[in-house]
Amino acid sequence: MKIAILASEGAPYVKSGGLGDVMEALPSALARIPGNEVVLILPYYKKIRDNEAFQVEKIMEFQTTLGWRRQYTGVMKLMNRTDGVQVYFLDNMYYFGGRSGAIYGDLDDGERFAYFARACLDTLAAVGYVPDVIQCNDWQTALVPTFLNAMYRAAFPHTKCMYTIHNIEYQGWAHGNFFDDVLGLPWQYRSSLEMNNSVNMMKGAIESADLVTTVSETYARELMYPYYAHGLDGILADAAWKLTGITNGIDTTTFNPAIDPHIPFHYDVDTFITGKADCKAALQEEVGLPVEPDVPLMVMVTRLAGHKGLDLLCYIARRVMREENCQLLILGTGEAQYERFFKELAEEFPDKVAAKITFSLSLASRVYAGGDIYLMPSKSEPCGLSQMNAMRYGTVPVVHATGGLKDTVPGVDENGENGLGFTFQSYNADDFQGALKRCLDLYHGNREGFRALQRVDMSQDFSWDVPASRYMALFNRMLEQ
Ligand code: GLC
Repeated sequence: MKIAILASEGAPYVKSGGLGDVMEALPSALARIPGNEVVLILPYYKKIRDNEAFQVEKIMEFQTTLGWRRQYTGVMKLMNRTDGVQVYFLDNMYYFGGRSGAIYGDLDDGERFAYFARACLDTLAAVGYVPDVIQCNDWQTALVPTFLNAMYRAAFPHTKCMYTIHNIEYQGWAHGNFFDDVLGLPWQYRSSLEMNNSVNMMKGAIESADLVTTVSETYARELMYPYYAHGLDGILADAAWKLTGITNGIDTTTFNPAIDPHIPFHYDVDTFITGKADCKAALQEEVGLPVEPDVPLMVMVTRLAGHKGLDLLCYIARRVMREENCQLLILGTGEAQYERFFKELAEEFPDKVAAKITFSLSLASRVYAGGDIYLMPSKSEPCGLSQMNAMRYGTVPVVHATGGLKDTVPGVDENGENGLGFTFQSYNADDFQGALKRCLDLYHGNREGFRALQRVDMSQDFSWDVPASRYMALFNRMLEQ
């Protein structure tokens, strides 16, 4: 099957969050399936251009039309990827090349990614790659199914399009003029893109894609409710027949404590007791916490954003630090109020709390490896990947049972058995503290039980093989539609 995957980010080239991880591992997993041919298209951001590790060759250039605009598109083919995925970066200095390091957040983001959606389709046509299916992701490539139907059917008469929602909070809103000025679409496409007299790109994609997926089964159900759907519940209810949840996997080669180059000691499921103890001591040392082998180290690797459940943690943090024998380490950057809170907490409890307000993939690995308990009290979580990373490194998760957290971390019983971690059901600080306390009690009161749970967590298969085969099943379903 010929598959084209279009996205605004993809590791190892460019990544701001989980979408970038998925766009590294999913194309690769699909390319491993015999008979598949996989193309991945990403913008050629300054960050990628400046990185000499990525060897590219310009294979062609042309003009991309966007409303009244004619914009340059240069197609840069990546020459040094070896897993079979063909990667094209689309070069346009004005939209992607000259700006600061950030990949999102410009005032003209709507126009930038409208351009990208058209340029992707132009590129497929220009290189003569006629995909059986296009898979596109989040608001940044949400215009693809509409452009495909409106303007590219001559080139791609039978191509089907799957749209995947990684996070419904960001929908691609633009003012009403955007439709004529930037998109330049025929009027009959207006109704599917219009919402509240504005343009909503995600709505257009939900209505016009052949199938819609999201990144966990529970999130697919949650999206039927206003609480989770950020205004699109009605639209998704109408599209329920074509909405499926496929829970993400993680890249089990990158995230592997047996070979991870970023951690000081390697270990696997048979050697984790000593391996993790060594990693923990090194981590405590690195972040300036007392090296205490028997004090449980609670960790969090996260964007410091409200929906990650930080308000719950802030509410209980001082109480927990006073009442419990434990340490807390936070790694991440984000909203100023949370950065400040954790810095102050670390000053107040220097022997118990460390806050590393920075983004570092290599320190993240050492945190997964050296931690005992992983906190993820997200208010909503479409899938979440770091809870799986944590389990792979033998760090026991404590999570709010929502979205993908509910699917990937079934709750344990009072003995720490028959599940993978500690969960709480309603979004409430006391319930979170209750789950945390049950976890700490297991650690202090029954260390063998805690280790047994670590062993079970480390033995799970979180690889992409299963999700990739589910994507294939849906691709096939589209082709039969
Ligand atoms: C978004 C979601 C996250 C998910 C990721 C990859 O970042 O917020 O829950 O794991 O996309 O699908």
